[in-house]
Amino acid sequence: MKETEALDQYIADHSDSESDYLKALYRATHVNLLRPRMASGHIQGRILKMFTSMIRPRNILEIGTYSGYSALCLAEGLESGGMLYTFEINDEQEDFTRPWLENSPYADKIEFIIGNALDIVPQMDVTFDMAFIDGDKRNYIAYYEMVLAKLSKGGYIFADNTLWDGHVLETPKHNDWQSIGIKAFNSYIVNDKRVEKVILPLRDGLTIIKKLG
Ligand SMILES: C[S@@+](CC[C@H](N)C(=O)[O-])C[C@H]1O[C@@H](n2cnc3c(N)ncnc32)[C@H](O)[C@@H]1O
Repeated sequence: MKETEALDQYIADHSDSESDYLKALYRATHVNLLRPRMASGHIQGRILKMFTSMIRPRNILEIGTYSGYSALCLAEGLESGGMLYTFEINDEQEDFTRPWLENSPYADKIEFIIGNALDIVPQMDVTFDMAFIDGDKRNYIAYYEMVLAKLSKGGYIFADNTLWDGHVLETPKHNDWQSIGIKAFNSYIVNDKRVEKVILPLRDGLTIIKKLG
């Protein structure tokens, strides 16, 4: 086992375990869906839950539900009365994901919306205190500006995959729009004086952004 794998195992062994329900969802995601690596896993899920319980948001926005793993972790951290609005653009995902969300202990804290977050969120009359951006990497700047306009002062945005498997260190090919999108987002954020930001080198990189008052 490589040292990084051994350390990952050590971290997993010395952190809270995921629930049996999340374990089953993770397994079902890998058995039934294409691109299961897109799902958050054990440690990222525990971190999302921990951040949610630290921030104590009333409303959370998630862009990119996929199989619902991160949605369930965010909802797990919500206090009673809190609500997660999670968006998935791919309507073929609904048959798999909706039952996992609706049969979970957090069903009453989750609104699962099929559609393009970029079209729907601007029409919503909701202020968010926290957001998890995990959609199409080509659109991160557009998601960010949309979310920032709907975020309370002092609210937090978490943007996933901002190290993009290390590709941020390379010059992307002219048609590698995902790497280009992530690099453009990182350059955009670092110079944005409206927010504080730090990249957490977790998994594939998780940028934490705080909206200043
Ligand atoms: C990386 S996966 C999400 C994984 C999930 N957040 C997790 O951690 O378990 C990204 C998902 O975002 C969806 N997506 C992409 N663009 C979107 C948009 N504009 N609005 C809503 N969903 C979008 C994709 O269809 C895909 O299912």
